[in-house]
Amino acid sequence: MPDTPMPLLPALPAGLLDALHGLLGPRGVVTDPLDLEPHLSDWRGLYRGASPALLRPASTAELAAAMRLLFEAGVPVVPQGGNTSMVGGAMPDESGRQVILSLSRLNRIRDIDPMDMTMVAEAGVVLKAAQDAAAAAGTLFPLSLGAEGTATIGGVLSTNAGGNTTVRYGNARDLMLGLEVVLPDGGVINGLRRLRKDNTGYALRHLMVGAEGTLGIVTAAVLRLFPRPRAEAIALCAVESEDAALSLFRRFRDRDETAVRAFEYMAGQGMDLVLRHVEGATLPLSERAEHYVLVDLASSRPDADLRGLMEAVLEEALEAGEVTDAALAESEAQRAAIWRLREEHPEAQKREGASVKNDVSVPVSKVPELIQRSNAALKELIPGSRPVPFGHMGDGNIHMNLEQPEGMDPGAFLALSHDIMDCVNAIVRDLDGSFSAEHGVGRLKPDMLADWRGGAELEAMRRIKAALDPKGLLNPGKVLPA
Ligand code: FAD
Ligand code: MLT
Ligand code: ZN
Repeated sequence: MPDTPMPLLPALPAGLLDALHGLLGPRGVVTDPLDLEPHLSDWRGLYRGASPALLRPASTAELAAAMRLLFEAGVPVVPQGGNTSMVGGAMPDESGRQVILSLSRLNRIRDIDPMDMTMVAEAGVVLKAAQDAAAAAGTLFPLSLGAEGTATIGGVLSTNAGGNTTVRYGNARDLMLGLEVVLPDGGVINGLRRLRKDNTGYALRHLMVGAEGTLGIVTAAVLRLFPRPRAEAIALCAVESEDAALSLFRRFRDRDETAVRAFEYMAGQGMDLVLRHVEGATLPLSERAEHYVLVDLASSRPDADLRGLMEAVLEEALEAGEVTDAALAESEAQRAAIWRLREEHPEAQKREGASVKNDVSVPVSKVPELIQRSNAALKELIPGSRPVPFGHMGDGNIHMNLEQPEGMDPGAFLALSHDIMDCVNAIVRDLDGSFSAEHGVGRLKPDMLADWRGGAELEAMRRIKAALDPKGLLNPGKVLPA
């Protein structure tokens, strides 16, 4: 019996698929539902969408030509990198009309220059591969986050990712000098300039960073490199309170700000989940604590006495009663084990059950108040629920996440997502903070941006979107309300 062809592409205009095939070749157009499946939901299974096709161009020129066709046909496009978004940013909607655009074949490192301290990487290069290439050239590309084995350069720039080393090196935006971008109508901005100073008109490159694929498609970037660290010291500390954690940060910053590569807070509740769910995870301290801090010091100076600095500051903090216990890594294995306790927080939360993420930021001085007030408010909102605050304390960016009550139906808990976000965000707003610190806006909650950034600011954003994407075809419904 002959195979009945599946009605794969009801939404794509006739002839478009053939034209795309002609442009991108057989590897460049994916329509088999089995191959499409991994691209239709996010890593937590929270967001799902439908799509008639995934496009995989192999070059900027191919992408530009494909975009021209899609623009003429009025077909919406959702760019997708490693699909590690926390906010459903890379998911098509349920209409089945939106084509997914993968940058995975644009995965070359075009150039590394240790004199200019720059790397030119294509959008599909995985973050870890960029880090490894920098290291092989005797340099450092410092952006570091839990998803670095999957997230891509296009994705981290489009979300202006932060991660663990922002406190020292800044966000993705600060690590970018130039961009190559394909616009919705197929126009190409050739902005791969490796200049430290470039004031020629509007900085379009900075508009693209953090735009979550709504203004243009990043195809390549000039990234900043740094001298590689030659001295390191890492410790896991038990601290008395959220205030003690902040005070410890200040002690390190006051002694040597440039030495602090990461300063990460973790609540006892989250550490318990990591120890329960992650194979081989053990606490290198004598007993459980309510609050922990990971301190990571690094310097490019081989003679920097970071061990001495770490010990001196921790001794002061022990005497002041802020730190109650601490373990210093004595080997690479111990260093990795301590970092693993921090990095496995998202996975441990996922294994425990349903959770709602609140990626919020406040002025650094307000972090203890944020955590304390949110913990109390969330427990009152949903009795039995378990707040799991952790993250980048040195940047004022805490993941004020909430784990479902034990035994509660996950669906029933997730149905309360918006109430949970509203609860935390009321406190964040009161503390002059932001509801989206590093993950982006994506599909978080419709109208959230309009609610937070009204008036002239929102109107300016709408005009920028309309100017660059007049047909509203790039990642529709993300960032700005549709
Ligand atoms: P995707 O998820 O595929 O896409 C993200 C957004 O960018 C989407 O809106 C998409 O449309 C758009 N996009 C992707 N590529 C392009 C392109 N080439 N041009 C235009 N738009 C594009 N994030 C942090 O900031 N800090 C963290 O510490 C952190 N930790 C994480 C830990 C874990 C375990 C996980 C799973 C995620 C974590 N994240 C973190 C979130 C995520 O890794 C980042 O948002 C990352 O930047 C997304 O990269 P990606 O390639 O997976 O992009
Ligand atoms: C992290 O820093 O590990 C992630 O950004 C936080 C999260 O999973 O909420
Ligand atoms: Zn984070």
